[in-house]
Amino acid sequence: METTVGRHRRVIMFPLPYQGHVNPMFQLANLLYSKGFSITIFHTNFNKPKTSNYPHFTFRFILDNDPHDERYANLPLQGMGAFSRIFLFNKCGADQLRHQLELELSAKDEPPVSCLITDASWHFTQSVADSLNLPRLVLRTSSLFCFLIYASIPLLDDLGYFNLSDNTATPLLDGLGYNNVPDDERLEEQVAEFPVLKVKDVIKIGFKKDNDGMGDIISNMVKQTKASSGIIWNSFKELEQVQLETIRRDIPAPCFLIPFAKHFTTASSSLLDQDRSFFPWLDQQPRNSVVYISFGSVAQVEEKHFMEMVHGLVDSKQSFLWVVRPGFVSGSTWLEPLPDGFPGERGRIVEWAPQQEVLGHEAIGAFWTHSGWNSTVESVCEGVPMICSPFWGDQPLDARFVSDAWKVGVYLENGWKREEITNAIRRVMADEEMRERSTVLKQKLDASLIEGGSSYESVESLVDYISSF
Ligand code: UDX
Repeated sequence: METTVGRHRRVIMFPLPYQGHVNPMFQLANLLYSKGFSITIFHTNFNKPKTSNYPHFTFRFILDNDPHDERYANLPLQGMGAFSRIFLFNKCGADQLRHQLELELSAKDEPPVSCLITDASWHFTQSVADSLNLPRLVLRTSSLFCFLIYASIPLLDDLGYFNLSDNTATPLLDGLGYNNVPDDERLEEQVAEFPVLKVKDVIKIGFKKDNDGMGDIISNMVKQTKASSGIIWNSFKELEQVQLETIRRDIPAPCFLIPFAKHFTTASSSLLDQDRSFFPWLDQQPRNSVVYISFGSVAQVEEKHFMEMVHGLVDSKQSFLWVVRPGFVSGSTWLEPLPDGFPGERGRIVEWAPQQEVLGHEAIGAFWTHSGWNSTVESVCEGVPMICSPFWGDQPLDARFVSDAWKVGVYLENGWKREEITNAIRRVMADEEMRERSTVLKQKLDASLIEGGSSYESVESLVDYISSF
């Protein structure tokens, strides 16, 4: 397919190469393409997207092309270690990026480049863009409230919140998760600076300001997002109005809030094949009767916790559709720990599913989620109440907002205990008021997409803004 005919401006987009970041960037790319821009995607070879799904985009593979470069030849491909690329490329990717951008800016047979849009965590790209006088917008794939809390990590650290934790390790690097939160009554107290949060939510983020790798990434991400020419969020104004006002007061860059799942699905940017074989079964289930379970693309559990989940599900007596990614259970290839006869007729287990389509299915009554931000927004988009089992990073913050601010879910905040799992599933499936609140939130979102609504206006002003460069 011809990529540039009739298209007079080009946008270069550079996602972080992980599923939770690739999905919203490609949804945004589809949206900008539909508005008349030509799209060039910069990507690592690691977690390469299926380019055949995007014949209308141009792809350039950068940063890890040289198999003999020892800096990345030995980086892990799986598990938490795969995140080490974020550290490495932020440190040493600038020259390669500048070289590729210079080629694009001087290309005679392509439309002129309006701007670069990168994931916010590619913080090294701001100085490269500045050196070429190229406007850089960022896509921030988590919530606005997460950004505000991350921006306050130095303050929260100085106030001593992180000293309550035994966990000095960096979970993204060692895969430990947050299981070392100590038993201390102060953990249940509110955080004065963010009253929705409890102290333990802050600790569960899993990293702090000091010289640990993830703390550095976050502080640089915040700094270079503030320095950018604009911030695009996968959200909508009615969900995060207060946070939007705070950010607009503190940061000069314009903000654009767009709930991507309402524009495009993530089917074509899925890095794993989506199993659809369960749909005939799902089609036969009564309305709001099935719990959909998925913990995103990265989270892992220990086998003993996995077994608590299994027992909690069995005891709930609810039907379920469970996405168990290969490797989700530490030390297992896939489903080895499952007891004979499970899941039986009441459930289906798949490796990966078309999540948005599943959430939109009328048989789905609740979503048991790790509270990744894409999953949270997708659930809000379909009006599905949640059971939240967050792991680290933004997820404990999302879970707290879902349960305590928007009241469209239950937070399983004591880890993996079968009785609590059973109770949470039963409660969410039976709670008609929570279902009603989820529906009202979805209706607000739908209204924001109509001409004159906040999300509609955000798309229009983003297009005008990019066109003005
Ligand atoms: C991570 C963080 O958790 C998230 O908060 C951050 O904003 C981005 O990086 P991840 O853990 O993978 O992402 O979770 P999530 O943000 O929920 O993204 C998962 C994506 O995979 C969603 O778009 C979801 O629809 C998709 N998915 C998940 C599938 O397509 N099929 C599945 O079976 C499961």
